[in-house]
Amino acid sequence: MNSFRLVAPRELRIEPGTFRRLVELVQSEGYHQPILITGGRSVRGREEWGIVTDSFLARGLPFLEFTVRGEPGPDLVNDTVREIVTDAPQSDVVVAVGGGSAIDAAKAVAAGVATVTSAGSAAAGGAAARTFDITHYLEGVGTVGPSGDTLPVIAFPTTAGTGTEATMNAVISRVGPGGFKKSLRHPGFVPRMAVIDTDLHENCPVEVTRASGLDAITQLLEPYLSTKANPVTDALAILGLSRVGKAFPRLLAGDDEPELRSEMALAAYLSGVCLSNAGLGVIHGFASPLGALRDIPHGVVCGMLLAPVLRRTLDGTYIAPRGDAGERLDDISRALGAGGSAEALVDLVADWAAPLGRLGDYGFTREDLREVVAGTGLKNYPVAIDPEELNEILGEVL
Ligand SMILES: [Fe+2]
Repeated sequence: MNSFRLVAPRELRIEPGTFRRLVELVQSEGYHQPILITGGRSVRGREEWGIVTDSFLARGLPFLEFTVRGEPGPDLVNDTVREIVTDAPQSDVVVAVGGGSAIDAAKAVAAGVATVTSAGSAAAGGAAARTFDITHYLEGVGTVGPSGDTLPVIAFPTTAGTGTEATMNAVISRVGPGGFKKSLRHPGFVPRMAVIDTDLHENCPVEVTRASGLDAITQLLEPYLSTKANPVTDALAILGLSRVGKAFPRLLAGDDEPELRSEMALAAYLSGVCLSNAGLGVIHGFASPLGALRDIPHGVVCGMLLAPVLRRTLDGTYIAPRGDAGERLDDISRALGAGGSAEALVDLVADWAAPLGRLGDYGFTREDLREVVAGTGLKNYPVAIDPEELNEILGEVL
């Protein structure tokens, strides 16, 4: 067996109703001054939000709150870090509630606050806050390796998709020409606790369920095919895929039950553990430059590309050490409920992704494809593939 290291949150809770009792959780963990970071639409319209904020006020626990709309960019992270360091320097925990964007923002902010406050005195911290810029620490953009210092993060995902509640990275984007979609990454940035409270997943729109679910599926099967897979991620990936196979088709058919939501949320969490430890493949390699160029949901990109990339994987020449990738496609097919044949697997995921449309629907043109291919990393994809073939795959979904 090859050497490997496994990093995951210290604690996972699957417990409906936990968010509405957040004040008890925060206090029982020994924290005194939380920062709440939520997504734009998920939680603030729900009755739980009022219950939580009232309970903090009733117990005299000071807190700051922030909303994240859309994928977080550097300005949002930098401004939030400055505000926290200035207004609430004693903050000791970041609670993230939302989809991947809110949780990624929270992880980056938690790391930013710890970086700035580690500068020493209040005056030094204030000066560090004024000049703090998260882009310096982003892979492929900045030149500074993050220390891993962070405030602890408690993550409540409200969608079952990115798995960022379990990963060591936070994706920060700047969309448009010259844009980027890059990670702040360190094992220290894995959230302290991930909480799956299915009360927060109720009434998630089917198009969000579909796109997020396809992201989770991609993040389970890419690590399973990865050249960096290990025995633990293998087991977790198959466990996650089998949960998806049972729950996802029923959710897409409108069967919105908490039990199905918790199966998908567990699968998404497992996908985060898998990707953090075994890496991803070419679908996520495409997703970064596509998402940096135009505004397109990450799960939509993953879903669109699944069938064409799997078809290429099926026909490909496998590179060491992944000579068993063909059999692994059969395993994935079996776990997802496609019967064990790779061809049936391709048909199944194409079916699930059909309502997502095509890249052209999001403004992509044929001229964009060369730029996207040039920015596509192959990550740990098990098949030898050249730029011409990458271009063809994108052309299939344009
Ligand atoms: Fe993803």
